[in-house]
Amino acid sequence: MWRHKCSLAIGILLVLFIMMTVSVTRIPQGITISESIKRPASIFKQTDVGPGTTITRPGQVLIPELIADEAALNVTGHMSPRLENATFFSLVRNSELDQMLSSIREVQDRFNIRFGYDWVFANDKPFTEEFMTTVRSYFTSGTPQFVTIPREYWSYPDWVDKDRAAESRRDAENQRVMYGGSESYRHMCRFNSGFFFYLLSSYRYYWRVEPGIKFSCDIIDDPFRLMREGSKKYVSAMIMPEGENAVKGLWTVVRQHFPADFFTSQVDHNNLASFITDDGGLTYNLCHFWSNFEIADLDLFRGEQYQEYFNALDATGNFFYERWGDAPVHSIYVALVLQPSEIMFLDTVGYYHKPNHACPRDETARKVNRCLCDPNEDWNWHTWNSCGKNYFKMQGHQLPPGIVW
Ligand SMILES: *[C@@H]1O[C@H](CO)[C@@H](O)[C@H](O)[C@H]1NC(C)=O
Ligand SMILES: *[C@@H]1O[C@H](CO)[C@@H](O)[C@H](O)[C@H]1NC(C)=O
Repeated sequence: MWRHKCSLAIGILLVLFIMMTVSVTRIPQGITISESIKRPASIFKQTDVGPGTTITRPGQVLIPELIADEAALNVTGHMSPRLENATFFSLVRNSELDQMLSSIREVQDRFNIRFGYDWVFANDKPFTEEFMTTVRSYFTSGTPQFVTIPREYWSYPDWVDKDRAAESRRDAENQRVMYGGSESYRHMCRFNSGFFFYLLSSYRYYWRVEPGIKFSCDIIDDPFRLMREGSKKYVSAMIMPEGENAVKGLWTVVRQHFPADFFTSQVDHNNLASFITDDGGLTYNLCHFWSNFEIADLDLFRGEQYQEYFNALDATGNFFYERWGDAPVHSIYVALVLQPSEIMFLDTVGYYHKPNHACPRDETARKVNRCLCDPNEDWNWHTWNSCGKNYFKMQGHQLPPGIVW
């Protein structure tokens, strides 16, 4: 990988650099993974190296792939961060500052301190000075940006009858639909279904982070890089069924919108339709990717095909008359339109969003990623939740230890 035109001076710097970086993580030969778990705190002290360059698992010596790139090495021997074209994204209210700060720390400590990705914060009301100043003060890597959501992305379209919407919210509340009585929840679901990506037009990939979430494990590899290199378009960390009363009428529109052959997965179409329907498209089995964690290639949503799909759903007014969530809306599209290989499930991040927790079932994975979670509280493989198994089966993945078909 060394380039011959390397000047002697740069060569010497590189040698010094490799010696410095390798010495940080060199693990004596023959040591087992579990011994090397006792990682010194120095993993976060490798500031000489810079973000994006020293992502190693314990027991793995640095691969000088990036070091070979002269452009990345400046005269003082520092590496420029090697970041993907990506950002974090949070929809958050001023009143959720504390929970947002907690999420920022989670992401920072478990991942972004070694990378430094940007973060876009969006709000339907202007952010207060206090919110912005405090958030900025929590950033040690990456740049926060603050956006007020334009009114057209957070208001009633003119074909929706507001009185009827208010009435159906009262009905939904009486029927105990989760968040059934909330008007802002309706706007949020519609915004997350059809508009958020317009705020992120200068990025290719995004990672959604809600206030108050946790990552119980280190996120060692850069998911954005894995996506680009592996041509992935959608990443999930939790899979489960949606409440039946929150998707009323959704499947009917989906069936009308997509040609019949989209539903006969892997026979006519190389997709994951059988993740969302057990009967060749007759009914929706309620399985979905829990989209409050979501990493996606934004081109997925920016394309005309998605726009047409969203417009068909939106035309029914059911983002207001029902309580359609963005999770089934995204998931159904992803399952029908993407190839199975373009969808990825991250089962080692230990994602938590009230009230659900994911925790890797694999003990080695928990140690390597320094997880702080109890696999008995894991939700992905809970006995009542067949959607994870369903997904693994359709993907041809091996089940984690202790889980049986
Ligand atoms: C080299 O990288 C360091 C650390 O990122 C930075 O402070 C310095 O300004 C860079 N020097 C040049 C010449 O780009
Ligand atoms: C990042 O992606 C966006 C959207 O595809 C594109 O417009 C922009 O030019 C890209 N930026 C870089 C630095 O490649």
